[in-house]
Amino acid sequence: MSSMPSPSPQIVRRVERLRKELLDHDYRYYVLAEPVIADEDYDRLMRELQDLEGRYPVLRSADSPTQRVGGEPTKQFASANHNPPMLSLANTYSEEEIRDFDRRVRELLEGEKPVYVAEPKFDGVAIALTYREGVFVRGATRGDGTQGDDISNNLRTIRSLPLRLRTKDPFLMDLEVRGEAFMHRTDFEAMNEQRETAGEKSFINPRNATAGTLKLQDPKLVAARPIQIFAYFLFAGRKRLATHMENLRILRSLGFPVNGDAQQCTSIDQVVAYWENLEARRDSLPYDIDGVVIKVDNLRQQDILGTIARSPRWAVAFKFASRKAETQLTGITLQVGRTGTVTPVAELEPVFLGGTTVSRATLHNIDYIRELDLRVGDVVVVEKGGDVIPKVSGVVPGRRPAGAKRFTMPAVCPVCGSGIYRTEGEANYFCENAACPAQVKGRIEHFASRPALDIEGLGEAAVEQLVTLGLVGNVADLYALAGKKKDIVALERWGEKSAQNLLDAIEGSKTQPYHKVLFGLAIRHVGTGVAKVLATEFPSIDALQEASPERLQSTQQVGPTIAESIAHFFGDRHNRNVIRRLKEAGLQFTTAAPRERKTLAGKTFVLTGTLPSYTREEAAAIIEQNGGKVSGSVSKSTTYVLAGDDAGAKLAKARSLGVRVITEDEFKTLVQ
Ligand code: IVH
Repeated sequence: MSSMPSPSPQIVRRVERLRKELLDHDYRYYVLAEPVIADEDYDRLMRELQDLEGRYPVLRSADSPTQRVGGEPTKQFASANHNPPMLSLANTYSEEEIRDFDRRVRELLEGEKPVYVAEPKFDGVAIALTYREGVFVRGATRGDGTQGDDISNNLRTIRSLPLRLRTKDPFLMDLEVRGEAFMHRTDFEAMNEQRETAGEKSFINPRNATAGTLKLQDPKLVAARPIQIFAYFLFAGRKRLATHMENLRILRSLGFPVNGDAQQCTSIDQVVAYWENLEARRDSLPYDIDGVVIKVDNLRQQDILGTIARSPRWAVAFKFASRKAETQLTGITLQVGRTGTVTPVAELEPVFLGGTTVSRATLHNIDYIRELDLRVGDVVVVEKGGDVIPKVSGVVPGRRPAGAKRFTMPAVCPVCGSGIYRTEGEANYFCENAACPAQVKGRIEHFASRPALDIEGLGEAAVEQLVTLGLVGNVADLYALAGKKKDIVALERWGEKSAQNLLDAIEGSKTQPYHKVLFGLAIRHVGTGVAKVLATEFPSIDALQEASPERLQSTQQVGPTIAESIAHFFGDRHNRNVIRRLKEAGLQFTTAAPRERKTLAGKTFVLTGTLPSYTREEAAAIIEQNGGKVSGSVSKSTTYVLAGDDAGAKLAKARSLGVRVITEDEFKTLVQ
């Protein structure tokens, strides 16, 4: 066992200290949203802890913040029993039903007046969390209410979930906490966009995305997904608990995220008012809700009321009316997203729904249309969820006009006319033309992003300006910007200095290695990892372009999907054209060590006269980028005088000293 060093008491203390600090920062950042240290400092502490746990495996522990990055994959989830069982709620849909509920409660309480707590009904996935001696030991799905799946390792990755309770109260060390896992709509949308770029199926809504995520076998994947939680139920065997509202306060003090909208209501009128108010605010919340949950606040009263058929008599769900309407489908058109995804859109006879007139709705993808057997002319059901984009959720039977035809996917992109294609097993069609106007901005942003060509100053806003004003139409155009500096300076929020910085950054990107360029081209399914493998296996882009599908697939990590995607990319003449221009601009398209570009090292230039195509500043910048120096006066140590029209005294001096005089054309061959 000599290879397993045992830690000194100082190390043990340091590890404990680091854990406490990191868990505390997690809490401040993810629960309170009030971070107190910089990300780099957090990362530094985390690395130190990871390092110590790596060196002293005996110190590893399930409640360490290092576990948030995700442990080993599981083949099958163990089952988890729920004690007490996870109940379900009876649903009500109208004021009348909610008043009935109130009447029943008062009857059963024999005249005692109940206080209610009203809170949002989160549209997520129910979870059960078990703590022993203050430490998170198990987390499970609801399953059938008495038995679910043990998904502890997945839940441990959720940054806002306390791995240790923030309490010293011995009666609050062993708990059962229930709550909801969910995703913010904006996080969900960003995640879907990323998935589409990677060629993966997008999720239909945040709840599906959450459920799908929590069922993943690999916690490392879960760690990368934006899951949040709210706790709303506490069961503490040894603590005397009095009211639900008090429990919410306790949960908050223990370190759980608890929703702030729970409210005590002393009458059923107040409950109805709460429901109306929340319904009106529904779309402005960052997450989806589908109604209000009403609970009798007093826990003793809850006991009296009890449970029937797996639903408590002390609580009820008061759902929002679903925002559905029927209307006629007048056409199906195609929309092309930033990443080239081609999605079918329903054109509808305008219909009033959830406060707005809806005339278009998403149809997700061609499979969805086939599943519904949707045809133009059909009367369809349109639904609005929490998000603003309405969707077609069904067809009204028996209303189909005679002769209504099935929809077939057009063969070309509606925006640019290039061919569109779909790989076996994928939901979406894609337009693979990198120059397609619908995708131009997204592709340029990707190209300039840090893991790709890392061009500083070329973010979303800059790309937007450059593309909108026609200065750039594809990534190759970036390398022609040097000649358009004046146009950039003239843009809003730009000046001489920022324009030059951008041009320098673009110039600098020419030395980025081949694998980054390959990644930057945004070939579907070619992420950073695959790009590296390809760059090693095919040391030039020509070799990659000419490789047969069999040759491609013999490469590690490259299967039929990637091979097909690469073939499609190079099969498009717009793409080949962009690559040719990037090559001409001097980007790295081979794995060979980057060409030494400091060709002018040790050489001193003097500029004089007016050059045909460069300004003085531009010429000076090129010289400096190539390692040369620019001086104001001619001397014996001057290597070249770069002379344009109307050159005067400096040219004469050069001649008298025997310094070599060159034209702009000669200069260009020097720096090529
Ligand atoms: S309390 C006995 N509170 O609704 C009551 N449930 O049908 C136990 N839900 O799947 C649940 N928001 O996941 C409660 N604020 C909330 C809730 C909530 C959503 C879900 C829960 C469960 C279902 C119950």
